[in-house]
Amino acid sequence: MRLNGIEIDNVPAELHGMRLLDYLRTERGLTGAKEGCGMGECGSCTVVIDGAAVTSCLVLVGQVLDAEIRTVEGLADAGHGPLQRAFVARQAVQCGYCIPGVLNSCAALLDRVPDPDDEQIRTALDGNLCRCTAYNRFYDAVHDAACERRTDQAGQA
Ligand code: FES
Ligand code: FES
Repeated sequence: MRLNGIEIDNVPAELHGMRLLDYLRTERGLTGAKEGCGMGECGSCTVVIDGAAVTSCLVLVGQVLDAEIRTVEGLADAGHGPLQRAFVARQAVQCGYCIPGVLNSCAALLDRVPDPDDEQIRTALDGNLCRCTAYNRFYDAVHDAACERRTDQAGQA
């Protein structure tokens, strides 16, 4: 697998049956992904696998040996610093628990759809539960990040 841009080709066979969530947290020290429900319902364990937001509690390590995986720790290096800054600026971060998964879902969306509308953001966040109902702030932050990324890309062209 390739994890946050680093090739990992020596995952021991005894770990192939481990949940990806546990592997990331205990074997790689990447504790951004959190365990909430452990059943694919809350989204707090969401990471990006081959460009798609996926709940890592439902994935086994052996299923992703050839995959490209990104966790919240790799977001900035993947060009999503603007998204993280926008979440802070919009005061969209009410807790440290759901946000890593929310950010990964939003980042996967922005990689697919550079300028998403509210409906597309809502759909992308369908699997991410936030109990403090900061969703409107999530939308604002995604729009801000999309705008900043477009401006940056125009500047580089
Ligand atoms: S812990 Fe994975 S979806 Fe809730
Ligand atoms: S910001 Fe985490 S539950 Fe709402």
